[in-house]
Amino acid sequence: MADLILKNGKVVTPDGVRTADVVVENGKIVGIGQGSAGKEIDCSGKYILPGAIDAHVHFREPGMTHKEDFKTGSEAALAGGVTMILDMPNTAPPTVTIESLKEKKALAKEKCKCNFGFHFGITEGNSDILKKVEKDPYVYGFKAYMGESTGGMICSYELLDKVFEIVSKPVVAHAEDQEILEENMREFKGTEDPKMHSEIRSDKCARESVKKILHLAKKHDKKVHIAHVSSMAELEEIRKFKTDKVTCEVTPHHLFLNVHEYENQGNFVKTNPPLRTREDQEALWDAIDKGFVDIIATDHAPHTFEEKDVTYSKAPSGVPGVENMLPLLLNEVNKGRLTIGKVAELVSRRPAEIFGMKNKGKIEVGYDADLIVCDMDLEKTILNDHQKTKCKWTPFNGWKVKGWPVVTVCGGKIIQVLSRL
Ligand code: DOR
Ligand code: ZN
Repeated sequence: MADLILKNGKVVTPDGVRTADVVVENGKIVGIGQGSAGKEIDCSGKYILPGAIDAHVHFREPGMTHKEDFKTGSEAALAGGVTMILDMPNTAPPTVTIESLKEKKALAKEKCKCNFGFHFGITEGNSDILKKVEKDPYVYGFKAYMGESTGGMICSYELLDKVFEIVSKPVVAHAEDQEILEENMREFKGTEDPKMHSEIRSDKCARESVKKILHLAKKHDKKVHIAHVSSMAELEEIRKFKTDKVTCEVTPHHLFLNVHEYENQGNFVKTNPPLRTREDQEALWDAIDKGFVDIIATDHAPHTFEEKDVTYSKAPSGVPGVENMLPLLLNEVNKGRLTIGKVAELVSRRPAEIFGMKNKGKIEVGYDADLIVCDMDLEKTILNDHQKTKCKWTPFNGWKVKGWPVVTVCGGKIIQVLSRL
């Protein structure tokens, strides 16, 4: 007999939605149809989706565990229907050596409650180990910070040129041009107005970097993934180069917030790349509609309330997001802006494909039993107090959202069941 059955749900597959039972045994999906098992969950009227995969999080371990750690980060992820995360290398120490990778892996194995993998950092002097690192199954990509952000990591275009020659897994690029950034910082030196953040880290600064990165990727015919695309300007450059090897991501904060938000939240929405105009925001939605955006990932970057609650120049950049991405997107399904199938594609199927995750991203026999049950009628308000992230705040505090993950199954294990079910 099987271990678990998600009974009579609307199962979201790449071929469409059909009502069926999803049968789970030994952590795998063994049937989609009908069956019986020791444990059954009635999913009548609810959608069953593949667990979300967040390909861009900062869980802060090791070194910054006052902001987040693998335990709290993964609890937040699972509460939000995310069953796999890829963690970024700007920790302390940064994940740029074999030893630091080993240390991070050990910490994650011990504490992370969801599936995990890493992006390894590119830095001056570590190119000779990248070939070896690439063989590690926990490494899914290489992170290149073209402009300095939290953690101070930086990669020059010369170094990126060299790295494209070496690696085959995707290079995940933080596309902000360091030279333009420095120029702008000089120009606006002394400002303490949070909204100037979007001027200093201008869309021009992002566009120039995207352009240079894509030229290099094309030259080497290698995979490149542009992280957190925030503006029309970046989209225009990506459009010129788009192939199967050129993929891109947008974040919930760039989709749902714009520069007007500084008035309400000041430094709490200071993030890199910054919030953009309403027109840019609309351009991102339009690019999703046109099938041009490959994935949505959160860039979950928690900082404590106290760290953010200071003057502009002292406040760190970054916003948390991993636990609210899915509810925010399901709310858009209810509003008619997205289909449920599109959500599954953006947060599951495509991230699994781009980063080569075996047996993940789809509800299919033989695939891992990472599953979520979503109640599209459940309406709840996102509240700071309810957050599982260690930082205990969200830029979406007070947002009333309809459509929530109510059951999360990770590797066949039932992780959470909201009481209403
Ligand atoms: O705003 C940001 N915060 N952008 C990044 O690139 C890094 C992140 C962080 O780690 O806090
Ligand atoms: Zn990031």
